[in-house]
Amino acid sequence: MVGLILAAGISSRMKSKYPKVVHHLCGKPMIQWVLDAVSSVADKLCVVVGHQADLVKQVLPDGVQIAYQSEQLGTAHAVMSAKSFIDPNDEVLVVYGDMPLLSQETLREVVKAHRSGDYDVTVVSVEMDNPTGYGRIVKDSSGKFIKIVEEFDASQDEKRIKEINTGVYVFNGKKLLEVLPKISCENRKREYYLTDAVGLLEKVNVYRGMKSEEFSGINNRIQLAEAENIQRRRILEKLMLEGVTIVDPSTTYIDANVKIGRDTIVHPMTFIMGETVIGEDCVIGPMTRILNCVIENEVTVVRSECTGAHIMSGVSVGPFSRLREGTVLYSKVKIGNFVEVKNSKVGSNTKAQHLTYLGDSQIGEDVNIGAGTITCNFDGKKKNQTVIEDQVFIGSNTALVAPVKIKKGAFVAAGSTITQDVPEWSLAIARARQENKLNWVLKKRQKEEG
Ligand code: UD1
Ligand code: CA
Repeated sequence: MVGLILAAGISSRMKSKYPKVVHHLCGKPMIQWVLDAVSSVADKLCVVVGHQADLVKQVLPDGVQIAYQSEQLGTAHAVMSAKSFIDPNDEVLVVYGDMPLLSQETLREVVKAHRSGDYDVTVVSVEMDNPTGYGRIVKDSSGKFIKIVEEFDASQDEKRIKEINTGVYVFNGKKLLEVLPKISCENRKREYYLTDAVGLLEKVNVYRGMKSEEFSGINNRIQLAEAENIQRRRILEKLMLEGVTIVDPSTTYIDANVKIGRDTIVHPMTFIMGETVIGEDCVIGPMTRILNCVIENEVTVVRSECTGAHIMSGVSVGPFSRLREGTVLYSKVKIGNFVEVKNSKVGSNTKAQHLTYLGDSQIGEDVNIGAGTITCNFDGKKKNQTVIEDQVFIGSNTALVAPVKIKKGAFVAAGSTITQDVPEWSLAIARARQENKLNWVLKKRQKEEG
């Protein structure tokens, strides 16, 4: 079976600078949703591109064939552009690239229905409460299929028909090749309609699909948002059935490729995005955004923002922490309030609990980073490394001017500005020595009142 996906159209109703099929739903381009569904029944995939072809090609995975439709003259013309991919001895599944809700199960049923008889084509129809915009399935009084008429060309009577053409077809390859050149553009849009191929063929099987929501074609941003909502609900339900607790599905947003282990609890107002993988028994949220992170087991992340971080087991993050690209937190690390970590490795059991910036640093195990510690990693030109070895204690409000190394077991006094390496097990104090002027206040007062 060849899977042919049409994605060359101009999609003017999206009012977008970008092609319709590259718009995302739950972190995945629209066309990728379609490819995932089609690849479950087709062994060869071909995408027809044309309008802004390069932008569409950018989001296509390897192994997908590409056909070019140089001018957008209609859906039949698009199929014609992929003629060399149509094998006369094979079946051809044609779907439009703007149907991201189509499921694998439904496509399997469609293929089964097509194979149940000797058909030239099986076209999938559904009943829509509001059929506006879709092509209508026109039948005679005995219920026999006559043709598909596009909304634009339909009479008042035809517009009342609620059975619509979904845009999913299985063709006999030979019959499709025969009928394509016979299609004309004698219609109000002057386009070559693929729907006319169905009208011209003899043995037509109209397969009535049940789940009408799966066949929504996305033509504008309202439909895009509606489809994303449906897709999101499906993702959450799948996770819940696999053993993830989602406290409030209506305020939880999880992308299609995210993986979450059993007995992890996701609290409200949480976004888990990209290629994130989360283990078991974690507590995520409330009010947290996680993008492209790997999180192991028994991790807590509360009210925080994490991007591109690797967080190992037993770590606690937040509230109000920010983990950026290249952060690696080893087991049982604690990152607390208003702490930002970037491109840094933080060893097991180390704590940075308050108001701290750790950038471009390598931090050992059992280190205590005091409140308000700042790694001064940028000298105005380039980024420099800070190394803090095991069991170091950094006093509060310390500035570590990189490149600098604090060796094992060293102790940095609060308020220090450290510009030189600190040897093992040593104390570093780098601040002005305190001077107490006895009774200074009283003496000043006496002088003023004097
Ligand atoms: C199409 C069907 C309509 C059906 C509806 C289902 C036709 C003529 N009409 O209408 O019967 O009810 O889908 O959603 O087929 N495309 C190309 N090249 C072109 C034109 C379109 O590749 O020259 C692609 C588009 O990128 C899109 C798909 O074909 O992915 C469908 O085109 P669109 O303009 O959305 O068709 P509809 O008007 O929705
Ligand atoms: Ca459409």
